[in-house]
Amino acid sequence: MPEKFYITTPIYYPSDKLHIGHTYCTVATDTLARYKRLQGYDVMFLTGTDEHGQKIEDKAKEAGVTPKEFVDNIVEGPRGVKDLWKLMNISNDRFIRTTDDYHVKAIQRIFKKMYDNGDIYKGVYKGKYCKPCESFWTESQLVDGKCPDCGREVQDAEEEAYFFRLSKYADRVQHLLEDTDFLEPHSRVNEMVNNFIKPGLEDLCVSRTSFSWGVPVDFDPKHVVYVWIDALSNYITALGYENDKYDDYDKGWWPGVNIVGKEIVRFHSIIWPAMLMSLGEPLPKKVYGHGWLLLDGGKMSKSKGNVVDPYILAEKFGVDALRFFLMRTFPFGSDGNFSNELLIQTINTDLANDLGNLLSRTVSMVDKYFGGTLPAEQAADEALDAPLTELASGLRDRYEEAMEHYAPHKALEEVFKVISRANKYIDENAPWALAKDMEANGSRLGRVMYNLLEALRLSAVLLTPFMPETTAKIFDQIGACQGCRTWDSAGHWGSLSVTVTVKRGENLFPRIDAEKELAELEAAAEAAGKAALPALEIEPLTQEKVDFDTFCKSDFRAVKVKACEAVKKSEKLLRFTLDDGTGADRQILSGIHKFYEPEELIGKTLVAIVNLPPRKMMGLDSCGMLLSAVHTEKGEEKLHLIMVDDAIPAGAKLC
Ligand code: MSP
Repeated sequence: MPEKFYITTPIYYPSDKLHIGHTYCTVATDTLARYKRLQGYDVMFLTGTDEHGQKIEDKAKEAGVTPKEFVDNIVEGPRGVKDLWKLMNISNDRFIRTTDDYHVKAIQRIFKKMYDNGDIYKGVYKGKYCKPCESFWTESQLVDGKCPDCGREVQDAEEEAYFFRLSKYADRVQHLLEDTDFLEPHSRVNEMVNNFIKPGLEDLCVSRTSFSWGVPVDFDPKHVVYVWIDALSNYITALGYENDKYDDYDKGWWPGVNIVGKEIVRFHSIIWPAMLMSLGEPLPKKVYGHGWLLLDGGKMSKSKGNVVDPYILAEKFGVDALRFFLMRTFPFGSDGNFSNELLIQTINTDLANDLGNLLSRTVSMVDKYFGGTLPAEQAADEALDAPLTELASGLRDRYEEAMEHYAPHKALEEVFKVISRANKYIDENAPWALAKDMEANGSRLGRVMYNLLEALRLSAVLLTPFMPETTAKIFDQIGACQGCRTWDSAGHWGSLSVTVTVKRGENLFPRIDAEKELAELEAAAEAAGKAALPALEIEPLTQEKVDFDTFCKSDFRAVKVKACEAVKKSEKLLRFTLDDGTGADRQILSGIHKFYEPEELIGKTLVAIVNLPPRKMMGLDSCGMLLSAVHTEKGEEKLHLIMVDDAIPAGAKLC
């Protein structure tokens, strides 16, 4: 019976569409899950969505739908969470939604269990709450009075609430973090212990009464369960813990590995193990806290308007190229700066130049020199072959070492050392020179080709978790049998049949025209940015009241434009000469050149307030102000002068 391996991603907040940062985390977990499957483990890979909480309730209200309708659209709707994972070829075995009935009931039982064993008690919550993060904080945890996670304002909160005796587990959790490999990378341990445990772990507020979109506490239904208690439990409810939907919890899946982003390590390495200790259940084998993908040095977020859309990138460059880029470029445990330039450069260098070229050169040479099938008679040359065959023979071990340490970027580095070495091997052996005298050199050329195909095969096996579709195409082109695509076969040089037949195919990684693609991406980002802006923004109504007499003191008149010109040395100002019905010309200056050319206004009847005291502008007197309507459309300021019917004579009073 194969050994079981359980791995999870964080479950996503469906408050907005997912971006490349979320995709990074899920692709990484998928790669690790596929790697374990390749090794022969019986893998269970879980992902899902974390759908409760005040933020979702507020967003739904804003959108004028129920919270369930709101999350349904983002999770199941077009280009939603499930669509994205399908597009990215995510191989999850299970998808949990925290609104699933079985999960809701299980949460109620989990809460009750901890209440019954005395670890949850009723008290009064006084403290600070960060709404966007759904996190409670004590005064001492705030940074400059703001949320330590996101830096945003926090609110005062005081209400009757249930508390979890987190303090009771402080010592055990500290021991777990400091004396075991529970949390990795190890660099995150100090942060947890010094910032959260050593200052004193306080009991955690685990229920809310100020909103209702959550799992109700069944024995006190005005309370809903704190969203993190609800969310963290997904890792076990999805296996069947405290529910009948699944029955895998006791079948050797748990404990599993929880892959999470660095900002939620606190929940996973302190609260989560303490909850499991309280429930008397085994702790996860590992919590791995990966770094963030940054954009211009900062975190991507919808509210900052700097999110990168994975759909656009996958559709443009291909799913496998995007998956590969994410895993190859950024050391998993650290932050990395995302850029389109880097993406294109990685695809061009590693995939088009190195891997793509090696494949197409090798296959076309086998075709050209041997009609597609290698001869049985092949001549090795120890001195020339060893640098490649030895490097490639040890590849699987080095790759495994890296993957076991959650360093997929290092595993890829090892694979690409072999690919580069193979390209160098072509130059060293100059097959085109050997081919000039097939009688003398045919068997040597056969061996050179075999070695190249074998290096490609080993690399492709190990690239499978990263680029599953592409590697299947590579196997087909190099004629790899099913048995040559396995983990076992990747540990041995020479699995490919000596007389293998290749099959030329499409160029897997055409070179990208960086300049053209970057310009297109920039235009797409700009359009998306504009589309995300509110269509129309109108200034809120002034709340302060003005009394009628004060209003009546303002003298509004119809004025006819006799002349209009741009004021010299001013980009904004237009100078109007107006007929205000008095017989004398009135001069008004107005900063609207951005919106109108002077000629188009001559002869128009406008509205002006005429009893403002004169103002000097660029050395000229402005006697009054023209009225206009202003609003913002797709982020752009718009202005329209108020124009009235020509039938209204200049000087007519408006009231
Ligand atoms: N709902 C919680 C998780 C509950 S797990 C019991 C949550 N959801 S989230 O949608 O906000 O984030 C999901 C994951 O995406 C987190 O691990 C987070 O770190 C990750 N990422 C979000 N933006 C990211 C980047 N820019 N870069 C890398 N990962 C990022 O937290």
